[in-house]
Amino acid sequence: MTIQVLRLSHRIHRDIRLSTHVALTSRAFGASKIYYSGQHDSSLETSIKKLNFPIEYIENPKKLIKESKSTIVHLTIKGEDYKKIIPKLKGNLLIIVGGEKVPTEYYKLADYNISVTKYPHSEVAALAVILEKLK
Ligand SMILES: C[S@@+](CC[C@H](N)C(=O)[O-])C[C@H]1O[C@@H](n2cnc3c(N)ncnc32)[C@H](O)[C@@H]1O
Repeated sequence: MTIQVLRLSHRIHRDIRLSTHVALTSRAFGASKIYYSGQHDSSLETSIKKLNFPIEYIENPKKLIKESKSTIVHLTIKGEDYKKIIPKLKGNLLIIVGGEKVPTEYYKLADYNISVTKYPHSEVAALAVILEKLK
């Protein structure tokens, strides 16, 4: 199983630490690559590439998702309980996490919309739980 992560809507000044932590969490919990969309950020890329972890800026994340051969898993408070869905996840995965409000089209593009509790928290926390459960 290969797991890649797509971080949507990066905002250079506001999200630098959080997007860095999404990338660090991806690496620590066994994902193989992170994509990000939103604002292109050379300093984010430099800090992650220094760790030898692949990071790629994506101008058109919907195209990436539509062309992906992986199962698309979107982490959202409005999804189904992760405990029900995790056992169904097989093969390669592309896990999407948001930042600012995620447009509804992404919910439709995803094969699975899954929640980690019914409370709002953080893309880093949700991602860590899911990646740990997938091990
Ligand atoms: C801080 S939240 C987004 C809040 C934003 N203000 C909004 O209106 O959507 C950022 C991301 O964290 C993840 N997230 C937050 N709470 C979650 C939960 N309970 N289950 C799964 N993912 C969650 C989702 O990927 C979400 O897009």
